Amino acid sequence: MAVMTVTTPPAALDHDAPLRVDSVRLQDRLAALSGIGGIQGTTGSARLAFTDADRQGRDLVVTWMEDLGLDIRIDAIGNVIGTLEGTEDLPAVMTGSHIDTVRTGGRYDGNLGVLAGLEIIETVLAAGVRTRHPLAVGFFSNEEGARYQPDMMGSLVYVGGLPLEEAYDTVGIDDTTVRNELDRIGYLGSAPVPGLAPRAFVELHIEQGPVLEEAGVQIGVVEGVQGISWTELEIVGQSNHAGTTPMRLRHDPAWVAAEITTFVRWLALEIGHPQVATVGMLELQPNLVNVVAARATMTIDLRNTDDKLLKQTEEQLAAKISELAEREGVTIASRKLARFEPVEFDPMLIDRIEQAATAAGLSTMRMPSGAGHDAQMFARIAPTAMIFTPSHLGISHNPAEHTDPDDIEAGANVLLSVLLDLAEVVEQS
Ligand code: GLV
Ligand code: MN
Ligand code: MN
Repeated sequence: MAVMTVTTPPAALDHDAPLRVDSVRLQDRLAALSGIGGIQGTTGSARLAFTDADRQGRDLVVTWMEDLGLDIRIDAIGNVIGTLEGTEDLPAVMTGSHIDTVRTGGRYDGNLGVLAGLEIIETVLAAGVRTRHPLAVGFFSNEEGARYQPDMMGSLVYVGGLPLEEAYDTVGIDDTTVRNELDRIGYLGSAPVPGLAPRAFVELHIEQGPVLEEAGVQIGVVEGVQGISWTELEIVGQSNHAGTTPMRLRHDPAWVAAEITTFVRWLALEIGHPQVATVGMLELQPNLVNVVAARATMTIDLRNTDDKLLKQTEEQLAAKISELAEREGVTIASRKLARFEPVEFDPMLIDRIEQAATAAGLSTMRMPSGAGHDAQMFARIAPTAMIFTPSHLGISHNPAEHTDPDDIEAGANVLLSVLLDLAEVVEQS
């Protein structure tokens, strides 16, 4: 789909006295949200999509949106968008991210983008600033895809990339469906999907990798997101006695799963950076010390910024699977859980982010995103880009995830500046 680029020249922001977010207020909200589903002894959280913890997190953020007097819309896939009206009835300048987490989530992944958006709107309101375009902040359902695949489900449905009924019928890792769980937590809303295209979408997120910290750079100017391929394999063999079954007679799903695990790692190393490969889930049945497994279920996550190379890894994996099924006398059923091509962000917005950061005296680096983000879906319908802040030791999807408060403040202020530019400030009381 063709996406218009932003052509309005940057508004003349007064960089001598630019608006600034309140870092303490932002940190307080990050801490409060991370306490919901909080993982004891850490600053992280477990709020898998559409669980009770997700509902409580949603309720808290909605309360904050209400406190700011935003117009709140919940759509049919549970995306929640709060809008501060502009002086004209124009498409909104939108920011946001997600508040669902993996089961071992950190405090910042997704939450930062949503709460920075709220903080920016509070800052704008407190300063009496009005903009021509409305300012909107959203949180999008099931970005993580840890319970229901594909990931980025809410934003994908929002942009018309996944039919609502298909999303509703998705069965999760616990055999629940999206429709039932969304209904159960009270977030099956009435706003229609696909949703309205914003004027632009800009997402602030932690990098979740080591690049910025290692380079000593404060702001990542994200040029795009790498392609993602998720596959689930179900390997069925012959369960048998661990002591009596000679090795030559085995049809062992555990061994096949192990060989696939090592194969994808070697494959990624052979193809080279930035190809990555991960076996993140592996379950054996019956999972007992003295029983050759009957079944192995595993997932493989492959990513690359180059779609040709990503396809090549997918093909080599498929060939390996066929070879192993034949050699080991097992059946292997393969199911695609997610497949997204690499995405390039809007060049004009990328420039604006870089200029805003530089004007604020911050160091910048252009980079691709290794993680998937809601922004990559919005890029299908609106000019889109992202801002990254450094992640300490590059750790993420782990409760130990940490970003320095000064870096968070810097990232939020760059986002503030870019959003105001795009929304066009008309008055300040
Ligand atoms: C989402 O967090 C992903 O990139 O897996
Ligand atoms: Mn995220
Ligand atoms: Mn994540």
